[in-house]
Amino acid sequence: MRPSCGRHPLPPPLLLLLLHALTPPPAAAPVGVNWGFSSSHPFPAAQVVRGLLLPNSVPRVRLAAASPDALAALSGTGVAVTVGVPNELLRPLATSRKAAAAWVHDNVNRYASGVRFEYVAVGDESFLLNYGQQNQSFLVTAAANIQRALVDAKLSSKMKVVVPCSSDLYQNTSTLPSKAYFRPEVNETIAELLSFLANHSSPFMVELNPFLSFQHKKNLSLDYYLFQLMSHPVSDGHIKYDNYFDASIDALITALTKAGFSNMDIIVGGVGWPSDGAVNATPVIAQSFMTGLVNHLARKSGTPLRPKVLPNETYLFSLLDEDQRSIASGSYERHYGIFTFDGQAKYHVNLGQGSKALENAPDVQYLPSKWCVLDNNKDISNVSSSFSAACFNADCTALSPGGSCSGIGWPGNVSYAFNSYYQQHDQSEEGCNFNGLGLITTVDPSVDNCLFTLAIDTSTASSFHPILAILQILILYFYTYNVL
Ligand SMILES: *[C@@H]1O[C@H](CO)[C@@H](O)[C@H](O)[C@H]1NC(C)=O
Ligand SMILES: *[C@@H]1O[C@H](CO)[C@@H](O)[C@H](O)[C@H]1NC(C)=O
Ligand SMILES: *[C@@H]1O[C@H](CO)[C@@H](O)[C@H](O)[C@H]1NC(C)=O
Ligand SMILES: *[C@@H]1O[C@H](CO)[C@@H](O)[C@H](O)[C@H]1NC(C)=O
Ligand SMILES: *[C@@H]1O[C@H](CO)[C@@H](O)[C@H](O)[C@H]1NC(C)=O
Ligand SMILES: *[C@@H]1O[C@H](CO)[C@@H](O)[C@H](O)[C@H]1NC(C)=O
Ligand SMILES: *[C@@H]1O[C@H](CO)[C@@H](O)[C@H](O)[C@H]1NC(C)=O
Ligand SMILES: *[C@@H]1O[C@H](CO)[C@@H](O)[C@H](O)[C@H]1NC(C)=O
Repeated sequence: MRPSCGRHPLPPPLLLLLLHALTPPPAAAPVGVNWGFSSSHPFPAAQVVRGLLLPNSVPRVRLAAASPDALAALSGTGVAVTVGVPNELLRPLATSRKAAAAWVHDNVNRYASGVRFEYVAVGDESFLLNYGQQNQSFLVTAAANIQRALVDAKLSSKMKVVVPCSSDLYQNTSTLPSKAYFRPEVNETIAELLSFLANHSSPFMVELNPFLSFQHKKNLSLDYYLFQLMSHPVSDGHIKYDNYFDASIDALITALTKAGFSNMDIIVGGVGWPSDGAVNATPVIAQSFMTGLVNHLARKSGTPLRPKVLPNETYLFSLLDEDQRSIASGSYERHYGIFTFDGQAKYHVNLGQGSKALENAPDVQYLPSKWCVLDNNKDISNVSSSFSAACFNADCTALSPGGSCSGIGWPGNVSYAFNSYYQQHDQSEEGCNFNGLGLITTVDPSVDNCLFTLAIDTSTASSFHPILAILQILILYFYTYNVL
């Protein structure tokens, strides 16, 4: 366990300054951004906050996990914070109230005097069809234990517990909102979850995946997803839907109503469009989606089932690209960032800064201008195994069909893979070996839109290890139950 940091009395001027910083910003569009940490070289938290969030007036963020660096950097900024509890912790947090109290102590109490917390988000998409029923039985108990720990820490009046759910929980058979219902095989867990949320006046947090839906629903046009005028909107009884977002919200309202919770508030915990790694994943289409969404929300028209009512908040997915996200659903998963992995805007959208262009992160420190490519003077007949090995570890998603590097051909794609591996390994000599086939060059091998990136220099920034944070709780859990 880390030592408790205790409370330090603050001198009055600093206290005033802090109170001023903590007063909510003036009413803006209720959008926020997701900030994840699945990166080989995470962009330093202080730069994310001071270089991206504050200059662009981003009012709220949802952290995928309780990164101490991120929480420390957000302290005193007034940015509203949702902090995530990873799925790996559901079981220990459900089984041990002590573990839940420790989690709240370490990740909320410790920062509560400076960070403007709004929600703890317990688990992530725990009902995703792909996950089967793993850990679902622990979900509500884990949420309840966190809630109890917040009450004990006298924090429950400031923040609520939410449980992010994917939309395949209620919309997997029909695209028509009126046909939506919660999947019957999770009926009991959902009933318990809804009762828990209602008892604490907590909203239902849903994560929407328009890109996945677009890929699967061949009869729905891109216009429907991009908030464009439609000559043939989707008819659902007497209601007409001209965009995916409203239809998804109304499907959720229908499912909630059928389950007896028609008035439950809704938060969109994640919604976005990728810019690389697949056909129709481009910065232009992603911008069209994001600006369409933000403008749609700004009109405050609500949905056909809840006119003039918006989701309480909508978190865009996401702030930055993450080169270690799972690509189980597709290569595009690593390219959801509004900003590249190094904090440069891919396109423009109003995150709170209004009609101004987005500010890029300043003063980014990169590793030296060195790249690793395939040495064409060698016998490359066996290069495929090196290529596969490089891609297995590194990030080759831009080579996927439709991706920004899909057109560079052989052996350009081998060089791309080698370089990705080399940068991920901080440009170490061994990182460019590949049975002698790698060659280090100082000439940038990028072609057109296909960027051979340089990694950012993270040697000075302390980086957050979600795995270590999780280990900490697991150790406490095993210790509590004497199973070690
Ligand atoms: C379920 O929990 C185990 C450990 O408790 C974890 O390793 C796994 O990732 C979890 N799976 C899901 C889908 O949440
Ligand atoms: C819908 O959900 C059921 C489980 O309730 C699953 O077996 C089925 O494959 C899903 N259908 C689609 C189209 O995802
Ligand atoms: C699209 O096709 C699905 C079945 O594949 C159907 O359920 C749905 O109603 C169709 N939607 C529209 C708008 O035609
Ligand atoms: C919600 O409150 C009711 C009434 O107090 C109680 O019976 C129920 O068990 C609570 N639900 C949960 C999930 O805690
Ligand atoms: C669970 O099933 C019961 C009985 O069929 C139904 O009344 C209830 O609305 C269902 N609950 C949810 C959350 O789907
Ligand atoms: C959500 O917004 C409605 C008004 O639109 C408000 O009454 C409700 O308290 C809000 N819920 C939360 C959880 O903030
Ligand atoms: C390629 O691989 C084969 C089988 O592993 C091996 O016999 C051969 O020597 C290799 N060629 C080169 C040029 O490395
Ligand atoms: C590399 O490029 C060649 C030529 O375009 C192509 O045939 C091959 O499939 C590519 N390999 C990969 C894994 O991208």
